[in-house]
Amino acid sequence: MKIETNKSLLELNTFGVPCTASSFVSISNLEQLRSALQYSNAQQKNLLILGGGSNVLLPSQFDGLVLSNDLKGIRKFHEDREHVWVECMGGENWDDLVRFSVSNKWGGLENLSLIPGSVGAAPMQNIGAYGIELCDSFDYLLAMEIKTGALRVFDKQDCEFGYRESVFKRALKGQYVIVSIVVRLAKKPKLVLSYGAIKAKLAEKKLQPSVAAVREVVVEIRRAKLPDPASIGNCGSFFKNVLVSTKVLERIKKDYPEVPSYPQDDPTKVKIPTGWLVEKCGWKGKRVGNTGAYEKQALVLVNHGGATGEEVLELSEKIIASVKQKFDIAIEREVNVIL
Ligand code: EPU
Repeated sequence: MKIETNKSLLELNTFGVPCTASSFVSISNLEQLRSALQYSNAQQKNLLILGGGSNVLLPSQFDGLVLSNDLKGIRKFHEDREHVWVECMGGENWDDLVRFSVSNKWGGLENLSLIPGSVGAAPMQNIGAYGIELCDSFDYLLAMEIKTGALRVFDKQDCEFGYRESVFKRALKGQYVIVSIVVRLAKKPKLVLSYGAIKAKLAEKKLQPSVAAVREVVVEIRRAKLPDPASIGNCGSFFKNVLVSTKVLERIKKDYPEVPSYPQDDPTKVKIPTGWLVEKCGWKGKRVGNTGAYEKQALVLVNHGGATGEEVLELSEKIIASVKQKFDIAIEREVNVIL
């Protein structure tokens, strides 16, 4: 285990903001992970677990230990007539797991193609896109307790998954490192084509629906709408979509009859796309210094080059305040803010 000091994390976060970590360690097996946690506990240091760095807003200076999860490995380890069980280590790239599943024609993850980030970070926020969430294919995960180094299995119920939520963002925040996850995939996939753009793209490309075809169109839709972090720093959606009462929706409809909304299980609630609210407040494509809201998707904040985490946070505060002022709705960040 090699502890590096004053390590730049510029290349390790997709926002591309500068951050110097006072200590940094990359771990590639469980022994190293346990030793790194012991070291951090003994030094009473702040600890930040870094996966793909794609859902985190970093400060210019982080005083503490940054632990990069580089545990690798993907394997099928069990099957029955209908399903296969795939174990994937937390340091794998999420899209590599999707590609592995799709190349074997196993169904369940194809709608989650191209989501940036690591496998270990995926359950933290129950990643989701195009009508599917991780929890739909999730079976269980293995995590190491930071305080003791003990390993614990969490099944789906233990994870308390919700919309971009899990127990690891709430009651157990900062208490576990995710070592590996197990997903249960279908040998006879049931495709989810409820998101209109997927159906439309399949038709346009004259593709028969299959896991590979869904992956192909999801990749195309994402590339067209979302900025590639390799050219414009970003963390995908910066805010969560917002749950409001139908009364609030009716109030907004008086001025904006076209407001989009999604019904929920609870008939008194609807979800409104926060991107729409942010756009209506005039932020879409707007630039503030080196930061801004992306021109094709106002929910995505971007680094036009040279922005700091502090500047992005300031922009997000302005956006939150303007949505509050215009619509009297409190929107929430989705990205993990370390500042
Ligand atoms: N919209 C606007 N203006 C905008 C953006 C969106 O009016 O600038 C409205 C449009 O009506 C559009 C609707 O919002 O039809 C929905 O937009 P989109 O399909 O882009 O999806 P989203 O609700 O903004 C969510 C996820 C994305 C995921 C897409 C597709 C969250 C926070 N975001 O975005 O996830 O890819 O749905 O399923 O739930 C991410 O989490 O990082 C992410 C990119």
